[in-house]
Amino acid sequence: MRLFFALWPPEEIVAAMSKVAVEVAQGCGGRAARPQTLHLTLAFLGEIAQERLYLVKEAAAQVDAGAFDLCLDKLGYWRHNQIFWVGCSQLDERLRQLAETLAQVLRQRQFILEERCFVPHVTLVRKIRTPPETIPAFTGMVWPCREFVLVQSVISDRGADYKKLASWRLAC
Ligand code: 2AM
Repeated sequence: MRLFFALWPPEEIVAAMSKVAVEVAQGCGGRAARPQTLHLTLAFLGEIAQERLYLVKEAAAQVDAGAFDLCLDKLGYWRHNQIFWVGCSQLDERLRQLAETLAQVLRQRQFILEERCFVPHVTLVRKIRTPPETIPAFTGMVWPCREFVLVQSVISDRGADYKKLASWRLAC
């Protein structure tokens, strides 16, 4: 099973993100992410044997992290993977700590994670062949992050479908 940990946005944030996604996709082509798939990846595990799922959950249960409000104030385009995303102009300290702690407890259980530096983003549009000429006016949004989730990615005809397997509260 293909697994990752993520923050999943509440409805009002999904609506605001989808609006930007549709606008960008209309302007420069590409495929707007379906609203129900919008998320911010904290740790990508990849293919994990079902027998090790309990270890993944055990690791997550060890994470002692606090709730926070995430300020999403930046839109960007990455040429290397042709995605348009929304993220943060500055790395939020509590988000950094959450991702780092999660990586730590997973590595302690021999899970292999990428070493690349954590650049939090929510992919809004995929498969953009030519960079957007104009980026939509964007005033930003504040996402109340109160839990993180373990997600299974299932590839379908529509792309990836995501199934939430479990969630853990962030302390208030
Ligand atoms: P992306 O949105 O930038 O493509 C599920 O695939 C999630 O895990 C996506 O949000 C994806 O980021 C992220 N991810 C991180 N590393 C990945 C990898 N090596 N392969 C696929 N997805 C990865």
